[in-house]
Amino acid sequence: MMNAIAKEVMRDAPNKGLLASVSVARFKGDADDFSGTVGEVEVADPRMRCRNLDVFYNDKHAIMDVSLDIGKNEVVAMIGPSGCGKSTFLRCLNRMNDTIDICRVSGQIQLDGQEIYDRRLDVVPLRARVGMVFQKPNPFPKSIYDNIAYGPRIHGLAANRQELDEVVETSLRKAGLWNEVKDRLDQPGTSLSGGQQQRLCIARTIAVSPDVILMDEPCSALDPIATAKIEELIDELRKNYTIAIVTHSMQQAARVSQRTAYFHLGRLIEVGPTDDIFTRPRHKLTEDYISGRFG
Ligand SMILES: Nc1ncnc2c1ncn2[C@@H]1O[C@H](COP(=O)(O)OP(=O)(O)OP(=O)(O)O)[C@@H](O)[C@H]1O
Ligand SMILES: [Mg+2]
Repeated sequence: MMNAIAKEVMRDAPNKGLLASVSVARFKGDADDFSGTVGEVEVADPRMRCRNLDVFYNDKHAIMDVSLDIGKNEVVAMIGPSGCGKSTFLRCLNRMNDTIDICRVSGQIQLDGQEIYDRRLDVVPLRARVGMVFQKPNPFPKSIYDNIAYGPRIHGLAANRQELDEVVETSLRKAGLWNEVKDRLDQPGTSLSGGQQQRLCIARTIAVSPDVILMDEPCSALDPIATAKIEELIDELRKNYTIAIVTHSMQQAARVSQRTAYFHLGRLIEVGPTDDIFTRPRHKLTEDYISGRFG
């Protein structure tokens, strides 16, 4: 069971910084005697704040009482064995799980202090503010230009063609793709290489000026060179955006993130500065995973 004390503290003083001090409980146990996330789930300057999140797919309890902040201008990596709920958690952050009929979400998630599961909230602008990049690059069946221009057009972010051209160029530059595509903007997005397509998808996400970018294993279909480019890009993007990335590569988590969250069977076992998680994990399950004993 999750620590009853932490829950009580959060109910009484949800924003007072007390959670971290009580959530460090016993941390050499196994999944069955889980007694709360080890480490500081809270940050001083959160962009997203998630509290007591539970997710069910019918009877399957996929996320159990997870609380986690994602700070401004930080990259948080989510790691853990297959099926532990990383993608499910990520999808909660922009309500992508709403599209799955059997999925039920409870708990609180705030973006800049605003509850995103508020019934009155329109998910279309939410998904522009919290954009998502998927495992497999998924350009629209449109030209390179129109892939980027699509979002700004539907969200009314450009007043005329010149402004739209500017958004397209700026987004492609930020995604490190401009020089490779500036002479072929009218060609299909699908004509690009896999690594270029993934940067195109990142540019498409950036084009609508998000606050947060969610990435679910964005490099798993890419070769090492394309992966290195995306990793450099993530580091660059951090200056302007908050990023949550799911990865199966611990090296990648270590290279790109400042904080790492370790999930196991739907629970957030441990979170902390990336260096600490990889060099001195506090929970035995984290230690087992990062040292390759399972997963
Ligand atoms: N659409 C769905 N319908 C039913 N169950 C689902 C669905 N998506 C995920 N699940 C279940 O929820 C649990 C968590 O799945 P999730 O995809 O979030 O894990 P993951 O950590 O991202 O795994 P992986 O590393 O393999 O991508 C799993 O038991 C999975 O079978
Ligand atoms: Mg997944």
